[in-house]
Amino acid sequence: MKNDNRMTLTQFLIEERRRFPQAAGDFNSLILNVALVCKRIAGHVAAGELGGMMGSASATNVQGEEQKKLDVVSNDLFVQGNNWGGYLAGMVSEEMDLPYHIPDHYDRGPYLLLFDPLDGSSNIDINISVGSIFSVLRAAATDRPPTEQDFLQPGKNQVAAGYALYGPCTMFVLSVGSGVHGFTLCPQLGEFMLTHPNMKIPPETQEFAINASNGRFWEDPVRRYVDECIAGKSGIRGKDFNMRWIASMVADAHRILMRGGVFLYPRDTKDPAKAGRLRLLYEANPIGYLIEQAGGRASCGGHPVLEVKPTDIHQRIGLVFGSKKEVERIEDYHAHPREEASSNPLFHASSLFRVAESQA
Ligand code: F6P
Ligand code: MN
Repeated sequence: MKNDNRMTLTQFLIEERRRFPQAAGDFNSLILNVALVCKRIAGHVAAGELGGMMGSASATNVQGEEQKKLDVVSNDLFVQGNNWGGYLAGMVSEEMDLPYHIPDHYDRGPYLLLFDPLDGSSNIDINISVGSIFSVLRAAATDRPPTEQDFLQPGKNQVAAGYALYGPCTMFVLSVGSGVHGFTLCPQLGEFMLTHPNMKIPPETQEFAINASNGRFWEDPVRRYVDECIAGKSGIRGKDFNMRWIASMVADAHRILMRGGVFLYPRDTKDPAKAGRLRLLYEANPIGYLIEQAGGRASCGGHPVLEVKPTDIHQRIGLVFGSKKEVERIEDYHAHPREEASSNPLFHASSLFRVAESQA
């Protein structure tokens, strides 16, 4: 049996811990319980219509977005699967307005867990890959419940981050600060097995991911970058690009970890009240951490996303991540704007995005 020699997630964590003899078992319990929650969510996702969990929960979250039944179920599984273990001081979730405090009858511990319990949930009902994203920070104190302020740490403070992807197979992708490692759920054993050690993102790519229907709202550096990709061999890039958009960031991130690429959900002018689409603490930061641990780069356009000092637990941010050289190029376009965008012949071409703009 091929799996007989593979390392399980448990063994991987124990071996990692040997390198840090001072570390208590709390951290491993945290990651293993998050992995268990993800297995439970995988079961609900895989049951599809048969599980009776499809469709809307007839509620909205703090972001004003419709909650699906599985968003709510997944959030409850994360909370109930981690509140009792004694390793957490509190949790923040996309689906909860306020930080969750550990009930008094359980011990508080040294870590904070931040998560998007089901990313890409508009894809649930149509059987397209979705996932769970999580970030681990250190708590400032364990003798009191954490305040919102305690969660507002820059992404570079993360001690671990990861995601589960509920695709044709279920995967758990993790970094504890020593590279990125991918585990595949073995259906026979019910264990995550190490199948993708040391995932690395190639520095260059010919694949980009962006929701092009927002083209008319983009800032010039993004417009310039995408136009140049679309110009392909005939433009300054001198090579053709492919575009992919799954609309589950976690699935787009997984593709990029597997074979490179660049993902953009930039700040735009669509809704001036929103600084971007994705949430900093439980989407951009954990994915940014994984991407950088895999040798890629994650940026808000102007500066590294992991450097951003958060101001709100549900704060949104523009995000660009993936193959290092591509992200650096986009950062360069932000740092050195074109003299006058309208004088660039690319914008006079009947590009997809110009057509969209003229029809707006
Ligand atoms: O969580 C936000 C999210 O669902 C991401 O997973 C995804 O990349 C994005 O929104 C999709 O946005 P849009 O609906 O604009 O394509
Ligand atoms: Mn999400």
